Amino acid sequence: MRIWNAIRNRLSPQSNTISVSPTSTQSPTDLGPMHHVNDYWLQLQESDIDQGLHRLVVGGMWEEMGPLQFEFLRAQGLKPHHTLLDVGCGSLRGGIHFVPYLDTGNYYGLDINASLIDAGKRELAAINALSKEPHLLVDDQFRFSRFGAQVDYALAISVFSHLYVNHIQRCLIEMKKVLKNDGVFYATFFVAPHPLHLDDIHHQPGGVVSHFDQDPFHYALSEIEAMAASVGFRAEHISTWQHPRNQQMIAFRHA
Ligand SMILES: C[S@@+](CC[C@H](N)C(=O)[O-])C[C@H]1O[C@@H](n2cnc3c(N)ncnc32)[C@H](O)[C@@H]1O
Repeated sequence: MRIWNAIRNRLSPQSNTISVSPTSTQSPTDLGPMHHVNDYWLQLQESDIDQGLHRLVVGGMWEEMGPLQFEFLRAQGLKPHHTLLDVGCGSLRGGIHFVPYLDTGNYYGLDINASLIDAGKRELAAINALSKEPHLLVDDQFRFSRFGAQVDYALAISVFSHLYVNHIQRCLIEMKKVLKNDGVFYATFFVAPHPLHLDDIHHQPGGVVSHFDQDPFHYALSEIEAMAASVGFRAEHISTWQHPRNQQMIAFRHA
């Protein structure tokens, strides 16, 4: 809740009034599977998006993290004719760079949060990129097959850092179905020095504190490799990725 609370307080420091849903009439089952996992079950309202909160709740650093992920994938060989699946695309911090670059219809973005997808559409409209016909989907179970496409590249920036291992496993299982035989899925993690690392980790740069069993989560490389192997992927640590908050890049390929 820390980021969201800070944003709310910045908006109206004198009150505890919350400008995001759900309302108090919603039952726990309405709140979706991420309730008690991370904050992304909260929906921004139109007025929040007007004020640009969608740029903050995906982690801020809008001007830095968008180009960083775009240039990273270009360095890995992304070309306009390739298809790209942006997992947990949020408000399209990366998407506003990928959509104009890729050929029409080649960008696929999925997120659990409908309000962030709506905000992303507004970002695309502002740069006249909707004509590139991006495919945007709200889904809470990583059902990438709903796009009806196979992809060359997939990317999950700062998504697995908010998820328990079973959610990550589900994502990898669904990714197996849509990633082309020679495709690559790049995903970032907070990495722990050894498996079952119960202690908090203070990451530098960035100052983020990650946890064993609380958002933001950390996993050891061997744990990530085990997750990959269990679904028929192999995982490789990519040392050239430099993240401002010390998340590490892992490449998943069909084993
Ligand atoms: C830190 S933001 C990063 C967004 C985007 N990748 C970027 O770089 O701007 C994390 C994103 O993951 C999404 N997310 C969290 N849990 C998810 C889930 N189970 N399925 C799909 N998306 C999820 C959130 O809604 C949010 O948009």
